[in-house]
Amino acid sequence: MQFARQGAYGRSVTATGSSLRARIHALLHFTEPSDAGRRWRALHLIVLGIGLFAVILLSIGDLPADTRNALRYAIWIVAILFFIEYVLRLWTAPEAPRYGDTSTAMARLHWAMSLPGLIGLLATMPVVIWLAGYRIVGSDAASIFCVLWILKLGLHAPALGTLARVVSNERAPIASVLILFFILLVIAATAAHLLEYERQPQAFGSLPNALWWAVVTLTTTGYGDVVPLTAGGRMVGSILMISGITVLAIMTGVLATGFAQEERRREYLKVWEQVARVPIFAALGVVTLSEIVGKLRTRYYPSRIIIVRRGDPGDSMFFISSGEVEVRLPTGGTVHLGEGAFFGEMALLERQPRSATVATTRPTTLLVLYASDFYEIASHIPALADAVEAEAKRRRDENIDRTAGEPKR
Ligand code: CMP
Repeated sequence: MQFARQGAYGRSVTATGSSLRARIHALLHFTEPSDAGRRWRALHLIVLGIGLFAVILLSIGDLPADTRNALRYAIWIVAILFFIEYVLRLWTAPEAPRYGDTSTAMARLHWAMSLPGLIGLLATMPVVIWLAGYRIVGSDAASIFCVLWILKLGLHAPALGTLARVVSNERAPIASVLILFFILLVIAATAAHLLEYERQPQAFGSLPNALWWAVVTLTTTGYGDVVPLTAGGRMVGSILMISGITVLAIMTGVLATGFAQEERRREYLKVWEQVARVPIFAALGVVTLSEIVGKLRTRYYPSRIIIVRRGDPGDSMFFISSGEVEVRLPTGGTVHLGEGAFFGEMALLERQPRSATVATTRPTTLLVLYASDFYEIASHIPALADAVEAEAKRRRDENIDRTAGEPKR
């Protein structure tokens, strides 16, 4: 599938296009779903791991000279590879769909100023500084700078983007919890200061010192370097510890709910995009469709994976959004189903075990509809239920014909 759109500058922006620049862009940004994409992601992680490992080891003072040299070479090679990666990312930046309406030069400038662009630039710094005449790589003390490569790990964690969205979506409850945190902190520190400063002028003699104790206590860290000695101080400490647990629990709940909601939203959009490829849904109105979309789940399967096995109980049906499956009939024959087809409906309609084994023949994305949702949808969208039933009947008849056509033993 190719998503292409025309930018104002007439450039065709292709998300999974065929041009060399588009392919390199998809590879570098880990959006290439093929085996090549997976291999590149693994390679990137390995190179990053080797680089970081070498930098960390090199900081050990008493290493043999040979090991030290080998580590320096490793750091050098990784630094050069990251430099090449940065240049390629800059070159392919105009392929990003979000820069579709900007000129090539502006797209590159925008990318260079973005967070991934700045992280990439930091990772190239050792080579840039070396090119400028300063031998930072190879100099043991200075190569510690390469630890900044750790920031590249963020490229492998798309959930970090989700985290940023969650924090932005939930900013109001997060701000409320933080305000509650500060209120508790200041009140407890002031109370402890008043109650403890005579016995411990060193630790509680000023509000900043008392605040340090309050932070350590409220976050339930408890270093134990400063402890209240008076009965009143201990009472304040106890209340603060219990409040700390409560505040952290509320914060965890806010973030967990935010993550779950964001995940549901992402899944909804993903399914909405895929549903368009399944003809049986094409005739449905937007309201009906949005109800179905909310009940479908996308699942990606590699090639040669069994999805349902003949004789197993059926608890879901599947719509093929991309790829292909092979239905292995009990008669020994096979039927291939491609994009837009569905399977697994017979067990749900007849409340019988699976009539055949179904396996992927290539990487396939399926939309899964669980039995309870299927029955609910079938009960109030008769057009959909009729279409599924008609196809199930056709298949059943075809299987009976095939069985009848088998030579008698
Ligand atoms: P189910 O019996 O739940 O699980 C196996 C699935 O294979 C079955 O539902 C149908 O969706 C599918 N299937 C069975 N027979 C055929 C056929 N002749 N042609 C296409 N699909 C079939």
